[in-house]
Amino acid sequence: MSGRVMARSGPPEERPSRQINIVLRNSEPPVVSQSVPDSEAHPTAKVMPQNSLFTDLQKELDGLVGLDHIKELMYEIFALLQIASMRSEAGLLSGAQVFHMVFKGNPGTGKTTVARLVAKFFQKMGVLSKGHLIEVERADLVGEYIGHTAQKTRDLVKKAMGGILFVDEAYSLARGGEKDFGKEAIDTLVKAMEDSKNQFILILAGYCDEMDFFLNTNPGLPSRFPIVMEFPDYTIDQLIQIAEGMAKERDYILMPQAIVKLKQHLLREKMEGEHVFSNARHVRNVIERSIRHQAVRILNQYSGGSPGKLELMTIRTEDLKLDK
Ligand SMILES: Nc1ncnc2c1ncn2[C@@H]1O[C@H](COP(=O)(O)OP(=O)(O)OP(=O)(O)O)[C@@H](O)[C@H]1O
Ligand SMILES: [Mg+2]
Repeated sequence: MSGRVMARSGPPEERPSRQINIVLRNSEPPVVSQSVPDSEAHPTAKVMPQNSLFTDLQKELDGLVGLDHIKELMYEIFALLQIASMRSEAGLLSGAQVFHMVFKGNPGTGKTTVARLVAKFFQKMGVLSKGHLIEVERADLVGEYIGHTAQKTRDLVKKAMGGILFVDEAYSLARGGEKDFGKEAIDTLVKAMEDSKNQFILILAGYCDEMDFFLNTNPGLPSRFPIVMEFPDYTIDQLIQIAEGMAKERDYILMPQAIVKLKQHLLREKMEGEHVFSNARHVRNVIERSIRHQAVRILNQYSGGSPGKLELMTIRTEDLKLDK
C-alpha cells in the first residue's frame, strides 16, 4: 500500500482545518520510545484481527476493474478510523473527522457504484447508523417558489440521515447564479452539514471540469469536502474486462471474435462518438442488448430442438449489433 495524501490542498481558511491528511507509506523507522513498554509500542496482535473488517469491502472493491487509487483511498480511510479508535482508547486526541466527498468523473465511470460501497463501509465501521444511499439530482432538490427548495432539500436530507446523500450533477445547482433556486438548495445543504454533523455524509458528483468550476465559484464549499475521488475514463482494455465480467456475472461467455468486434466498436465510440462516452454504462447496455439478440437468434435457430448449455451461454459476433 503506497502512501498518499488524500485531502485537497486548498487556500488557507478562517476556521481550523478539517482536512484529512494520511500518509501510509512508512518511510521512517518506527518510533521506539523508552518510556513506553515494548508490548505497547508494537501492538500487532491487537491490530491484525480487526483488518477483517476491511475484507468484505475489499472483495467488493476488487470486483471492480481499475479504480486503484480509490481502492487505496478506501484503505486509508479504514486505517484512519482504526487508528482513531485506538488513539481514543489510549487517551490520545483522535479529532472529529469529516467525510463529505466530491466524486469527479464522466458518466459510467463507477461513481454511484462506489458511493453504494462507501455507504455500506461507513455503516460497518460505525460512522453511519444505517448505510443507505439516497441518490438525487437537481430536480429533486429544487422547488418552484421561494421556500419550496429549502423544504424539498431538508426532506431529502432527513431521508438520508444515517446514510449518504448523493447529489448527481451537483454543478447544475449553481447553473443559474444568485437568483436561481439551486443556490437555496446549496445553502440548505451546507446548513444541514453544520447542524447534523456526522449524521449523514454528503457526496457531490459530476463531470470533472464542471465540478471544479462549481467548487471554485463557491469559496465556502471546497473546505467542507475534504475527500475528493476522481473517476477517470476507462481504457479500452478495462472496458473489455468489464464487459467480460458483466457477461460472466450473467452466465454468458463472449466469443473471442465478439471481443474483437466490441473492441473496435469501443475505440470508435470513444474517439468519434457524438455524445460524452458513457464508459461502463455503455458496455452494460451493449452486453444487455447482445443477450437479447442472442435469445432471438437461438430461438429462431433451434425452433425444433433444444440448444446445448454452451450455446445458451455463448455470445457470438452476430449477437453484437453495435451500430444504432
Ligand atoms: N470499475 C468497474 N468495474 C466493473 N463494473 C463497473 C465499473 N464501473 C462501473 N461499472 C458498472 O457500470 C455501470 C455504470 O456504473 P455507475 O452507475 O456506478 O456509473 P456512474 O459514474 O454513477 O454513471 P453516471 O454518471 O451516468 O450516473 C454499473 O452497472 C456498474 O456496475
Ligand atoms: Mg451515477
